[in-house]
Amino acid sequence: MDKLLVSGGRPLVGEARISGAKNAALPIMCAALLTEQALKLDNVPRLMDVRTMAKILALMGVEVGSQDDGRLELRAREIKDPTAGYELVKTMRAAVLVLGPLLARCGRAKVSLPGGCGIGARPVDQHIKGLQAMGAKIDIEHGYMNAIAKRLKGTRIVMDVVTVTGTENLMLAATLAEGATLLENAAREPEVVDLAHCLTAMGARIQGAGTDTIRVEGVRSLSGAQHRVMPDRIETGTYLAAVAAAGGKVRLSGAAPDTVGATVEKLVEAGARVALGADSIEIEMEARPRAVSLTTAPYPGFATDMQAQCMALDSIAAGTGTITETIFENRFMHALELQRLGADISIQGNTAVVKGVERLQGAKVMATDLRASASLVVAGLVAQGETLIDRIYHLDRGYEGLEKKLSALGARIARVR
Ligand code: EPZ
Repeated sequence: MDKLLVSGGRPLVGEARISGAKNAALPIMCAALLTEQALKLDNVPRLMDVRTMAKILALMGVEVGSQDDGRLELRAREIKDPTAGYELVKTMRAAVLVLGPLLARCGRAKVSLPGGCGIGARPVDQHIKGLQAMGAKIDIEHGYMNAIAKRLKGTRIVMDVVTVTGTENLMLAATLAEGATLLENAAREPEVVDLAHCLTAMGARIQGAGTDTIRVEGVRSLSGAQHRVMPDRIETGTYLAAVAAAGGKVRLSGAAPDTVGATVEKLVEAGARVALGADSIEIEMEARPRAVSLTTAPYPGFATDMQAQCMALDSIAAGTGTITETIFENRFMHALELQRLGADISIQGNTAVVKGVERLQGAKVMATDLRASASLVVAGLVAQGETLIDRIYHLDRGYEGLEKKLSALGARIARVR
């Protein structure tokens, strides 16, 4: 199995190009299920999760073009089998995003329950509850959600928790429902907005995406469209955190600076100089970072997907930072691995107290989830000696060409067996 070997101690210098956002591409690919015409996407990242979603769609009968230079064409002329099986869903929870569009288009769907996950319980009750409110009948049988509906009916849905994929699933379903759907306490993440843009280009009538109340006026049918997937704000934040930790000067191009506000604010507090352009970000870090404290929250708050990388930064910062995780109950697995590198972290409930040390020391560590892996790479870039990161298949799910991009910035990082 592939591992990553990182030798620390070099600053990062140069330019890196940001890829399309995984968490926007996945729901947008599911939008293809809503029309028999072609959905032509651009800026689709080359990632394992994108390949998994393509496989799930192909098994239903969707024609999936080959991915070429970020372009991907999907055409659901006919949906032969509206099923997403356990073997694929268990590897990627976002697969549950097919449920809403399948119900809206075919009137039935069979989707495996995703089950547990390394970062927390992650139930899908809000997805189910919302679809039921729209008239679907959903039974849980043998680990599958078996859903049927005549035509879904628009209604008012107040979500009990702010859920990103929950909001997306219901928005996708509502586009073809009869009448208007009002989604309250909706997620405001930029990926929800990007999905709304794509659906609007397909002929959907959506207002309020990006606020906590989204109104979808159902239409009879949707058409094909062309859409460019937004830049990945978490990939962007990860490179910014890496520079803040390792030092250096880097320009990130093809980014969406207006989506990374909370991360940039913390890195500036840590001592980085950051300049935002129209679609680029420059970061410069000379001194040792100062510790920062943060609490994760739904957008526009500090993203849970950036928490691990900032914990790595705090590990070598001057001072003590406290990091509180409010979205997922078990998202501190990386703390134990960072400790293997010499970090001084104590966990009290959902808060990690990180006392910065002068230097980390390279060691063998294990990636436990996608963003945990990224935090180990950030730590490896500053640790003395070699850090060998095992189980990097997690990284391949969400970072396009990570080691190539970092090598181009001067890091010593390589994939080894
Ligand atoms: C999305 O996951 C992202 N995934 C995650 O990205 C991200 O960490 C998360 O949002 C939070 O920002 C995609 O967009 C594909 P949620 P999602 O539903 O939608 C609870 C990454 O590393 N909840 O917003 O699955 C849930 O347990 C990742 O790229 C319910 O209780 O997350 C959690 O505590 C991993 N019932 C909270 O809501 C539900 O029905 C927020 O989860 C749904 C969620």
